[in-house]
Amino acid sequence: MKKTCVIGWPIAHSRSPLIHSYWLKKYGIDAVYEKKAVEPKNVAQFIANLAASEFIGCNVTIPHKETAFQAVAKADEIAGRLGAVNTVYLKDGVICGTNTDGEGFIASLRHAYPAFELRNKTAVIIGAGGAAKAIIGALLDEGVAKIGIINRTRERIHDLQLQFGSSVCEISKVISNDALESCALLVNTTSQGMESQPSLELEIQSLNPNALVADIIYTPLETAFLEKAKKQGNPVLGGLGMLLHQAVRGFELWFGVKPDVTAELYELIAADVQKAHKQ
Ligand code: ATR
Repeated sequence: MKKTCVIGWPIAHSRSPLIHSYWLKKYGIDAVYEKKAVEPKNVAQFIANLAASEFIGCNVTIPHKETAFQAVAKADEIAGRLGAVNTVYLKDGVICGTNTDGEGFIASLRHAYPAFELRNKTAVIIGAGGAAKAIIGALLDEGVAKIGIINRTRERIHDLQLQFGSSVCEISKVISNDALESCALLVNTTSQGMESQPSLELEIQSLNPNALVADIIYTPLETAFLEKAKKQGNPVLGGLGMLLHQAVRGFELWFGVKPDVTAELYELIAADVQKAHKQ
């Protein structure tokens, strides 16, 4: 029987097994997807041994994505640009790595708002870490013209400017009103607003009323930041869709079937998130 898994440290919280097991059952594929707690010091070896192991591929989550990038024999262009791998697969016996976080965000947005236009638009991103980088790269690939970044640590914005060039600019939190007035998309990529984390403090009254406000957090399913945006009439997008859509390509690479992100799958994972929230 084919085996796949997600590796992380810790890994108990991961919803990837629920997602992939749903698809395996739905498509009648005789395979399993497991959670594997792999200590940081063992990650490189785990990946290097993949071809000889019982696993045909794996997902990689926090804090192993950078180590996984180093460990694969071949990383594709997107993984290279992020220096991080979240999906590992075997191709002709070669251990390959890619990163589907950015495409997961775009697919989630397109799924929820099919008519939303990104080309030549302006976006504002809060945060400058790995998730921000994945989303910025994907937005630029989609034709977004300009991306303003708000981040606590300014040096990280400068790093992103070095990588992505003049399409990316720094926005100070204090002078963000103009940027908010003109942007079509505002995305929180930081952990602010996640359960048991400090909330995201950003004034958004000046936001264009048509701007789409997204959060990559899915615990809670709708953050206080999104609630605030919704209350003032803006369309919103929670983070659960990104989690589901980033999983699609791994499944397709391992099993040869492109799975659907159905409403039923969304409800299944949302219920699991809510159950954990009540505990
Ligand atoms: P990820 O890979 O999930 O993006 P990361 O690379 O650690 O994680 O990035 C986390 C982002 O959240 C960063 O932009 C971080 O800001 P700094 O670059 O200043 O560290 C931001 N972040 C996390 N906690 C924060 C907080 N309490 N206040 C402001 N920003 C925060």
